[in-house]
Amino acid sequence: MYTEHKQTFIENWPEALLTLSFQSEGIELRERDVFAIGACTHEFMDAKKLLERPAFSEQLRDDIEYALSRFTGPVFVRFGGVSYHEGSIQNINNVDAVVKQLSVPSHRVASYLWDCIQSSTPVWLFLRAWQDIPRWGEFRCFIENGSVVGVSQYHCLEYFSFLLKNADEIRQLIIGFLQRLIPLLHIENVVADIAVTYQDGNFNAFLIELNPFIQRTDACLFSWSNGGDFNGRIRINRSQTDALREKSKRPYLL
Ligand SMILES: Nc1ncnc2c1ncn2[C@@H]1O[C@H](COP(=O)(O)OP(=O)(O)O)[C@@H](O)[C@H]1O
Ligand SMILES: [Mg+2]
Repeated sequence: MYTEHKQTFIENWPEALLTLSFQSEGIELRERDVFAIGACTHEFMDAKKLLERPAFSEQLRDDIEYALSRFTGPVFVRFGGVSYHEGSIQNINNVDAVVKQLSVPSHRVASYLWDCIQSSTPVWLFLRAWQDIPRWGEFRCFIENGSVVGVSQYHCLEYFSFLLKNADEIRQLIIGFLQRLIPLLHIENVVADIAVTYQDGNFNAFLIELNPFIQRTDACLFSWSNGGDFNGRIRINRSQTDALREKSKRPYLL
């Protein structure tokens, strides 16, 4: 596992950075539980030559119960470096629901666990306060040598009229948030995904996750080709036509 990956994992974030994100409770997993989660996919079972899926430990249930007691609302379940993405279950607020999430077969998760096992990297499970994030409100911020070199809407094949209507306010919010984020970062080159929310007339921003500043991290409305076209701007699709043009560039994502 490469250091630029590992450093983005939540368990390696500086304490102060966590304050810009959702409330998080981390649990370092025992090997048995890592295997129990990985074994939800056949590939993992086959690769580890497992005949039966190991059961979760009782200690894990206890750890989850304790972690849940620190939250007042539902949680989002993920690992230090990966989540279940489309497989995420909503409204998780009890141990059984967390265990149900951990039992969802996910290649992303299994391959992450596999990499951790192969590189003797401890696996951390995180429960995070659930936050409703509107699709228009996710942004990917590209940071190189400690400076922001570009920001793009995250769901880059879509057009959101809300973004155009509120462009000035959202731009100011993102700039202000990044000014607070940058001094707290422990990595000079990183891609920070952030959430902008709008509730009761108020905009708010949170750090969702960090990704390595490498080509495998989707460039959204930018491109990594020929050294990248990051120009320090915030890019959004300004019309349905823009969104369709993006779609035609990436038919494989449809
Ligand atoms: N605390 C949360 N509450 C609700 N939804 C979340 C939360 N954190 C992330 N999400 C949603 O889940 C998606 C995937 O989560 P993310 O933390 O980015 O993990 P991954 O490494 O799998 O991309 C995000 O793009 C966002 O839409
Ligand atoms: Mg993400």
